[in-house]
Amino acid sequence: MHITETSRLSLPEAAKEFIKSAYAELGISDQAESRLDEISRQISATGTYVHTRTELEHGARMAWRNSNRCIGRLYWKTLKILDAREAETDQEIFDALCRHLEFATNGGEIRSSITIFRPASPGSAAPRILNDQLIRYAGYRDESGNITGDPSQEQFTRMCVEMGWTNPEKSRFDLLPWVWQWPGREPVLAEVPSGLVMEVPLVHPFLEWWEELGLKWHAVPVISNMTLEIGGILYTAAPFNGWYMGTEVGSRNLGDVNRYNLLPLIAEKMGLDTADPAILWKDRALVELNTSVLHSYSRAGVSMTGHHEASEQFVHFEQTECKKGRATNADWAWIVPPMSASATEVFHREYQNRVVCPNFFYR
Ligand code: ARG
Repeated sequence: MHITETSRLSLPEAAKEFIKSAYAELGISDQAESRLDEISRQISATGTYVHTRTELEHGARMAWRNSNRCIGRLYWKTLKILDAREAETDQEIFDALCRHLEFATNGGEIRSSITIFRPASPGSAAPRILNDQLIRYAGYRDESGNITGDPSQEQFTRMCVEMGWTNPEKSRFDLLPWVWQWPGREPVLAEVPSGLVMEVPLVHPFLEWWEELGLKWHAVPVISNMTLEIGGILYTAAPFNGWYMGTEVGSRNLGDVNRYNLLPLIAEKMGLDTADPAILWKDRALVELNTSVLHSYSRAGVSMTGHHEASEQFVHFEQTECKKGRATNADWAWIVPPMSASATEVFHREYQNRVVCPNFFYR
Protein backbone atom coordinates (compact mmCIF):
# COMPACT_ATOMS: atom_id res chain seq x y z
CA MET A 1 0.00 0.00 0.00
CA HIS A 2 1.25 3.44 -0.85
CA ILE A 3 1.76 5.90 1.92
CA THR A 4 -0.57 8.79 1.32
CA GLU A 5 -0.86 12.24 2.69
CA THR A 6 -4.38 11.48 3.78
CA SER A 7 -3.87 8.11 5.42
CA ARG A 8 -1.63 9.83 7.97
CA LEU A 9 -4.59 12.01 8.85
CA SER A 10 -7.26 11.22 11.41
CA LEU A 11 -10.76 10.58 10.06
CA PRO A 12 -12.05 14.11 10.87
CA GLU A 13 -8.95 15.63 9.24
CA ALA A 14 -9.25 13.46 6.14
CA ALA A 15 -12.96 14.26 5.89
CA LYS A 16 -12.23 17.97 6.17
CA GLU A 17 -9.58 17.91 3.48
CA PHE A 18 -11.87 16.02 1.12
CA ILE A 19 -15.01 18.07 1.77
CA LYS A 20 -13.15 21.36 1.32
CA SER A 21 -11.61 20.42 -2.00
CA ALA A 22 -14.59 18.51 -3.40
CA TYR A 23 -17.08 21.25 -2.48
CA ALA A 24 -14.79 23.89 -3.98
CA GLU A 25 -14.56 21.95 -7.24
CA LEU A 26 -18.33 21.50 -7.28
CA GLY A 27 -18.88 25.22 -6.68
CA ILE A 28 -20.70 24.61 -3.36
CA SER A 29 -18.02 25.82 -0.94
CA ASP A 30 -20.69 27.76 0.95
CA GLN A 31 -22.14 24.43 2.15
CA ALA A 32 -18.83 22.99 3.36
CA GLU A 33 -18.88 24.38 6.91
CA SER A 34 -22.32 23.11 7.84
CA ARG A 35 -21.60 19.76 6.23
CA LEU A 36 -18.38 19.47 8.25
CA ASP A 37 -20.30 20.20 11.46
CA GLU A 38 -22.70 17.44 10.59
CA ILE A 39 -19.83 15.07 9.79
CA SER A 40 -18.09 15.71 13.10
CA ARG A 41 -21.35 15.06 14.97
CA GLN A 42 -21.73 11.79 13.04
CA ILE A 43 -18.15 10.78 13.79
CA SER A 44 -18.56 11.50 17.53
CA ALA A 45 -21.77 9.49 17.65
CA THR A 46 -20.87 6.53 15.44
CA GLY A 47 -17.11 6.58 14.81
CA THR A 48 -17.66 7.17 11.11
CA TYR A 49 -19.69 9.22 8.64
CA VAL A 50 -21.75 8.50 5.56
CA HIS A 51 -21.02 10.13 2.20
CA THR A 52 -23.85 11.83 0.40
CA ARG A 53 -24.54 10.68 -3.13
CA THR A 54 -22.77 13.78 -4.50
CA GLU A 55 -19.70 13.22 -2.32
CA LEU A 56 -19.51 9.58 -3.34
CA GLU A 57 -19.78 10.44 -7.02
CA HIS A 58 -17.28 13.27 -7.02
CA GLY A 59 -14.93 11.42 -4.64
CA ALA A 60 -14.81 8.39 -6.94
CA ARG A 61 -14.13 10.65 -9.92
CA MET A 62 -11.32 12.39 -8.04
CA ALA A 63 -9.87 8.97 -7.20
CA TRP A 64 -9.70 8.16 -10.91
CA ARG A 65 -8.22 11.57 -11.66
CA ASN A 66 -5.53 10.87 -9.05
CA SER A 67 -4.64 7.40 -10.37
CA ASN A 68 -1.02 7.96 -11.31
CA ARG A 69 -0.76 4.79 -13.35
CA CYS A 70 -3.76 5.44 -15.59
CA ILE A 71 -3.26 6.94 -19.05
CA GLY A 72 -7.03 7.27 -19.65
CA ARG A 73 -7.78 9.95 -17.08
CA LEU A 74 -8.97 12.62 -19.52
CA TYR A 75 -12.43 11.09 -19.07
CA TRP A 76 -12.51 11.13 -15.25
CA LYS A 77 -15.67 13.24 -15.14
CA THR A 78 -17.67 10.68 -17.09
CA LEU A 79 -17.32 7.95 -14.45
CA LYS A 80 -20.72 6.43 -13.67
CA ILE A 81 -21.39 5.50 -10.05
CA LEU A 82 -23.45 2.46 -9.13
CA ASP A 83 -24.24 2.84 -5.44
CA ALA A 84 -24.39 -0.61 -3.81
CA ARG A 85 -23.81 0.51 -0.23
CA GLU A 86 -27.11 -1.08 0.75
CA ALA A 87 -26.05 -4.56 -0.41
CA GLU A 88 -26.00 -6.87 2.62
CA THR A 89 -26.62 -10.39 1.44
CA ASP A 90 -24.57 -12.55 -0.90
CA GLN A 91 -27.44 -12.44 -3.38
CA GLU A 92 -27.33 -8.64 -3.31
CA ILE A 93 -23.58 -8.66 -3.94
CA PHE A 94 -24.03 -11.07 -6.83
CA ASP A 95 -26.82 -8.95 -8.33
CA ALA A 96 -24.74 -5.77 -8.04
CA LEU A 97 -21.78 -7.43 -9.82
CA CYS A 98 -24.08 -8.63 -12.61
CA ARG A 99 -25.53 -5.19 -12.93
CA HIS A 100 -22.05 -3.72 -13.15
CA LEU A 101 -21.09 -5.96 -16.07
CA GLU A 102 -24.29 -5.31 -17.92
CA PHE A 103 -24.21 -1.54 -17.40
CA ALA A 104 -20.49 -1.15 -18.12
CA THR A 105 -20.46 -3.38 -21.20
CA ASN A 106 -23.46 -1.62 -22.73
CA GLY A 107 -23.40 -3.76 -25.87
CA GLY A 108 -19.76 -2.84 -26.54
CA GLU A 109 -20.06 0.91 -26.09
CA ILE A 110 -18.26 0.70 -22.77
CA ARG A 111 -19.24 3.01 -19.92
CA SER A 112 -16.53 3.74 -17.33
CA SER A 113 -18.24 2.68 -14.12
CA ILE A 114 -17.70 1.88 -10.48
CA THR A 115 -19.88 -0.14 -8.13
CA ILE A 116 -19.37 0.94 -4.54
CA PHE A 117 -20.19 -1.46 -1.72
CA ARG A 118 -20.42 -0.49 1.95
CA PRO A 119 -17.19 0.74 3.54
CA ALA A 120 -15.45 -0.72 6.54
CA SER A 121 -16.61 1.10 9.66
CA PRO A 122 -16.88 0.47 13.40
CA GLY A 123 -19.53 -2.17 13.95
CA SER A 124 -20.18 -2.86 10.30
CA ALA A 125 -18.21 -5.32 8.20
CA ALA A 126 -17.27 -4.59 4.61
CA PRO A 127 -17.01 -7.22 1.89
CA ARG A 128 -13.90 -7.85 -0.22
CA ILE A 129 -13.70 -9.29 -3.70
CA LEU A 130 -10.85 -11.78 -4.03
CA ASN A 131 -10.66 -11.74 -7.85
CA ASP A 132 -8.21 -9.18 -9.19
CA GLN A 133 -10.64 -8.45 -12.02
CA LEU A 134 -14.30 -9.41 -12.43
CA ILE A 135 -13.52 -11.06 -15.76
CA ARG A 136 -10.39 -13.19 -16.06
CA TYR A 137 -9.41 -16.50 -17.61
CA ALA A 138 -8.31 -19.46 -15.52
CA GLY A 139 -4.79 -20.85 -15.58
CA TYR A 140 -4.23 -24.57 -14.96
CA ARG A 141 -0.84 -26.11 -14.29
CA ASP A 142 -0.41 -29.76 -15.32
CA GLU A 143 2.00 -32.37 -13.87
CA SER A 144 4.79 -31.37 -16.24
CA GLY A 145 4.49 -27.74 -15.17
CA ASN A 146 2.83 -26.44 -18.35
CA ILE A 147 0.09 -23.91 -17.92
CA THR A 148 -3.11 -23.85 -19.96
CA GLY A 149 -4.80 -20.46 -19.89
CA ASP A 150 -3.60 -17.35 -18.09
CA PRO A 151 -0.56 -18.04 -15.90
CA SER A 152 -1.30 -14.91 -13.85
CA GLN A 153 -4.46 -16.63 -12.58
CA GLU A 154 -2.88 -19.96 -11.68
CA GLN A 155 -2.94 -19.39 -7.93
CA PHE A 156 -6.43 -17.93 -7.91
CA THR A 157 -7.65 -20.79 -10.12
CA ARG A 158 -6.18 -23.32 -7.69
CA MET A 159 -7.95 -21.60 -4.80
CA CYS A 160 -11.26 -21.77 -6.70
CA VAL A 161 -10.77 -25.48 -7.41
CA GLU A 162 -9.98 -26.10 -3.74
CA MET A 163 -13.20 -24.29 -2.86
CA GLY A 164 -15.08 -26.80 -4.98
CA TRP A 165 -15.20 -24.99 -8.34
CA THR A 166 -15.46 -27.58 -11.06
CA ASN A 167 -14.81 -26.56 -14.57
CA PRO A 168 -15.12 -29.27 -17.20
CA GLU A 169 -13.43 -27.40 -20.02
CA LYS A 170 -9.87 -26.60 -18.97
CA SER A 171 -9.63 -24.50 -22.11
CA ARG A 172 -7.28 -21.55 -22.60
CA PHE A 173 -10.18 -19.17 -21.93
CA ASP A 174 -12.33 -20.48 -19.06
CA LEU A 175 -14.09 -17.69 -17.22
CA LEU A 176 -13.18 -17.69 -13.56
CA PRO A 177 -15.94 -17.49 -10.96
CA TRP A 178 -16.37 -14.58 -8.59
CA VAL A 179 -15.16 -15.02 -5.04
CA TRP A 180 -15.98 -12.53 -2.30
CA GLN A 181 -15.67 -12.60 1.44
CA TRP A 182 -17.13 -10.95 4.51
CA PRO A 183 -14.73 -10.60 7.45
CA GLY A 184 -14.69 -13.66 9.67
CA ARG A 185 -16.69 -15.74 7.20
CA GLU A 186 -15.86 -18.34 4.57
CA PRO A 187 -15.42 -16.93 1.07
CA VAL A 188 -18.40 -17.28 -1.28
CA LEU A 189 -17.96 -18.52 -4.85
CA ALA A 190 -20.37 -17.79 -7.70
CA GLU A 191 -20.20 -18.59 -11.39
CA VAL A 192 -20.26 -15.49 -13.61
CA PRO A 193 -23.30 -15.63 -15.89
CA SER A 194 -21.56 -16.09 -19.24
CA GLY A 195 -24.26 -14.12 -21.04
CA LEU A 196 -22.98 -11.02 -19.26
CA VAL A 197 -19.42 -11.40 -20.50
CA MET A 198 -18.69 -9.93 -23.88
CA GLU A 199 -15.68 -11.39 -25.67
CA VAL A 200 -13.93 -10.46 -28.89
CA PRO A 201 -12.63 -13.18 -31.23
CA LEU A 202 -9.34 -12.09 -32.76
CA VAL A 203 -9.00 -11.80 -36.51
CA HIS A 204 -6.44 -9.93 -38.60
CA PRO A 205 -7.09 -7.40 -41.38
CA PHE A 206 -4.90 -9.25 -43.91
CA LEU A 207 -3.37 -12.39 -42.40
CA GLU A 208 -6.01 -14.98 -43.20
CA TRP A 209 -4.61 -17.77 -41.04
CA TRP A 210 -4.92 -15.59 -37.93
CA GLU A 211 -8.46 -16.67 -37.07
CA GLU A 212 -7.31 -20.30 -36.77
CA LEU A 213 -5.20 -19.35 -33.76
CA GLY A 214 -8.53 -19.33 -31.91
CA LEU A 215 -7.63 -16.31 -29.81
CA LYS A 216 -10.00 -13.97 -28.04
CA TRP A 217 -10.11 -11.55 -25.13
CA HIS A 218 -12.84 -10.06 -22.99
CA ALA A 219 -14.26 -6.63 -23.74
CA VAL A 220 -14.15 -4.99 -20.31
CA PRO A 221 -11.35 -4.83 -17.71
CA VAL A 222 -12.96 -4.46 -14.24
CA ILE A 223 -10.37 -4.03 -11.48
CA SER A 224 -11.78 -5.52 -8.29
CA ASN A 225 -8.92 -5.84 -5.80
CA MET A 226 -8.32 -2.19 -4.92
CA THR A 227 -9.65 -0.15 -2.03
CA LEU A 228 -11.19 3.20 -2.82
CA GLU A 229 -10.34 5.85 -0.24
CA ILE A 230 -12.48 8.98 -0.07
CA GLY A 231 -12.18 11.47 2.78
CA GLY A 232 -10.75 8.86 5.17
CA ILE A 233 -13.46 6.28 4.39
CA LEU A 234 -12.22 2.96 2.98
CA TYR A 235 -14.37 1.20 0.43
CA THR A 236 -12.78 -2.24 0.32
CA ALA A 237 -15.04 -3.46 -2.45
CA ALA A 238 -15.38 -0.96 -5.27
CA PRO A 239 -14.88 -2.67 -8.65
CA PHE A 240 -14.31 -0.20 -11.47
CA ASN A 241 -13.73 -0.33 -15.20
CA GLY A 242 -12.71 1.72 -18.16
CA TRP A 243 -12.12 0.43 -21.67
CA TYR A 244 -8.94 -1.21 -22.87
CA MET A 245 -5.95 0.36 -24.53
CA GLY A 246 -4.92 -2.11 -27.26
CA THR A 247 -1.43 -2.81 -25.92
CA GLU A 248 -2.80 -4.08 -22.60
CA VAL A 249 -4.19 -7.04 -24.51
CA GLY A 250 -1.94 -7.21 -27.58
CA SER A 251 1.44 -6.58 -25.96
CA ARG A 252 1.00 -7.62 -22.34
CA ASN A 253 -1.81 -10.15 -21.79
CA LEU A 254 -1.19 -12.14 -24.96
CA GLY A 255 2.46 -11.28 -25.56
CA ASP A 256 4.24 -11.32 -22.19
CA VAL A 257 6.43 -14.37 -21.63
CA ASN A 258 4.78 -14.98 -18.26
CA ARG A 259 1.27 -14.57 -19.71
CA TYR A 260 0.01 -16.15 -22.95
CA ASN A 261 3.50 -15.87 -24.51
CA LEU A 262 2.25 -15.93 -28.11
CA LEU A 263 5.12 -14.17 -29.91
CA PRO A 264 7.11 -17.31 -30.82
CA LEU A 265 4.01 -19.02 -32.26
CA ILE A 266 2.97 -15.94 -34.24
CA ALA A 267 6.48 -15.32 -35.57
CA GLU A 268 6.66 -18.92 -36.71
CA LYS A 269 3.30 -18.65 -38.48
CA MET A 270 4.59 -15.48 -40.11
CA GLY A 271 7.51 -17.49 -41.46
CA LEU A 272 10.13 -15.53 -39.52
CA ASP A 273 13.42 -17.05 -38.41
CA THR A 274 13.14 -17.00 -34.64
CA ALA A 275 16.80 -18.02 -34.32
CA ASP A 276 17.88 -14.63 -35.62
CA PRO A 277 17.18 -11.82 -33.12
CA ALA A 278 18.35 -9.19 -35.60
CA ILE A 279 15.34 -9.64 -37.86
CA LEU A 280 13.26 -8.35 -34.95
CA TRP A 281 10.81 -11.24 -35.06
CA LYS A 282 9.42 -10.39 -31.62
CA ASP A 283 8.78 -6.82 -32.68
CA ARG A 284 7.11 -7.85 -35.93
CA ALA A 285 4.95 -10.40 -34.17
CA LEU A 286 4.00 -7.72 -31.62
CA VAL A 287 2.94 -5.33 -34.36
CA GLU A 288 0.68 -7.93 -35.96
CA LEU A 289 -0.76 -9.04 -32.64
CA ASN A 290 -1.57 -5.45 -31.71
CA THR A 291 -2.98 -4.79 -35.17
CA SER A 292 -5.22 -7.80 -34.75
CA VAL A 293 -6.47 -6.63 -31.35
CA LEU A 294 -7.31 -3.08 -32.51
CA HIS A 295 -8.91 -4.35 -35.70
CA SER A 296 -10.98 -7.04 -33.96
CA TYR A 297 -12.35 -4.79 -31.19
CA SER A 298 -13.27 -2.16 -33.75
CA ARG A 299 -14.95 -4.77 -35.98
CA ALA A 300 -16.89 -6.07 -32.97
CA GLY A 301 -18.02 -2.57 -32.02
CA VAL A 302 -16.22 -2.69 -28.68
CA SER A 303 -14.62 0.48 -27.29
CA MET A 304 -10.83 0.42 -27.29
CA THR A 305 -8.19 3.08 -27.63
CA GLY A 306 -4.86 2.81 -29.42
CA HIS A 307 -1.67 3.76 -27.59
CA HIS A 308 -0.95 6.74 -29.85
CA GLU A 309 -4.40 8.19 -29.25
CA ALA A 310 -4.22 7.45 -25.52
CA SER A 311 -0.91 9.27 -25.26
CA GLU A 312 -2.37 12.33 -26.98
CA GLN A 313 -5.39 12.22 -24.69
CA PHE A 314 -3.14 12.09 -21.66
CA VAL A 315 -1.22 15.19 -22.74
CA HIS A 316 -4.58 16.88 -23.22
CA PHE A 317 -5.55 15.80 -19.70
CA GLU A 318 -2.39 17.41 -18.33
CA GLN A 319 -3.34 20.64 -20.04
CA THR A 320 -6.92 20.66 -18.74
CA GLU A 321 -5.64 19.93 -15.23
CA CYS A 322 -3.12 22.72 -15.48
CA LYS A 323 -5.89 25.16 -16.44
CA LYS A 324 -7.71 24.14 -13.24
CA GLY A 325 -4.55 24.85 -11.24
CA ARG A 326 -3.87 21.21 -10.50
CA ALA A 327 -0.60 19.37 -11.04
CA THR A 328 -0.68 16.07 -12.92
CA ASN A 329 1.04 13.31 -10.99
CA ALA A 330 1.93 10.19 -12.92
CA ASP A 331 3.94 6.99 -12.77
CA TRP A 332 6.02 7.31 -15.95
CA ALA A 333 6.77 3.60 -16.22
CA TRP A 334 3.05 2.83 -16.29
CA ILE A 335 1.93 5.73 -18.45
CA VAL A 336 4.39 5.08 -21.28
CA PRO A 337 2.91 2.38 -23.54
CA PRO A 338 4.75 -0.95 -23.73
CA MET A 339 5.32 -0.70 -27.47
CA SER A 340 6.76 2.05 -29.66
CA ALA A 341 7.33 4.03 -26.48
CA SER A 342 9.43 6.79 -28.00
CA ALA A 343 6.89 7.31 -30.79
CA THR A 344 4.39 8.52 -28.19
CA GLU A 345 4.55 11.97 -26.65
CA VAL A 346 4.35 10.83 -23.02
CA PHE A 347 7.74 9.10 -23.37
CA HIS A 348 9.38 12.51 -23.75
CA ARG A 349 7.78 14.05 -20.69
CA GLU A 350 8.62 13.91 -17.01
CA TYR A 351 6.22 13.38 -14.15
CA GLN A 352 6.09 13.71 -10.39
CA ASN A 353 4.67 10.58 -8.81
CA ARG A 354 3.07 12.09 -5.72
CA VAL A 355 0.13 10.13 -4.35
CA VAL A 356 -2.92 12.26 -3.61
CA CYS A 357 -6.30 11.25 -2.12
CA PRO A 358 -9.04 10.33 -2.98
CA ASN A 359 -7.37 7.38 -4.69
CA PHE A 360 -7.33 3.64 -5.22
CA PHE A 361 -4.90 1.48 -3.24
CA TYR A 362 -3.86 -2.15 -3.28
CA ARG A 363 -4.96 -3.93 -0.17
N1 ARG B 1 -4.04 -4.17 -17.80
C1 ARG B 1 -5.18 -4.81 -17.25
C2 ARG B 1 -5.62 -5.95 -18.16
O1 ARG B 1 -5.15 -6.09 -19.23
C3 ARG B 1 -6.34 -3.84 -17.08
C4 ARG B 1 -6.04 -2.60 -16.28
C5 ARG B 1 -7.08 -1.51 -16.43
N2 ARG B 1 -7.15 -1.05 -17.78
C6 ARG B 1 -8.00 -0.14 -18.25
N3 ARG B 1 -7.94 0.14 -19.51
N4 ARG B 1 -8.88 0.46 -17.48
O2 ARG B 1 -6.45 -6.75 -17.89
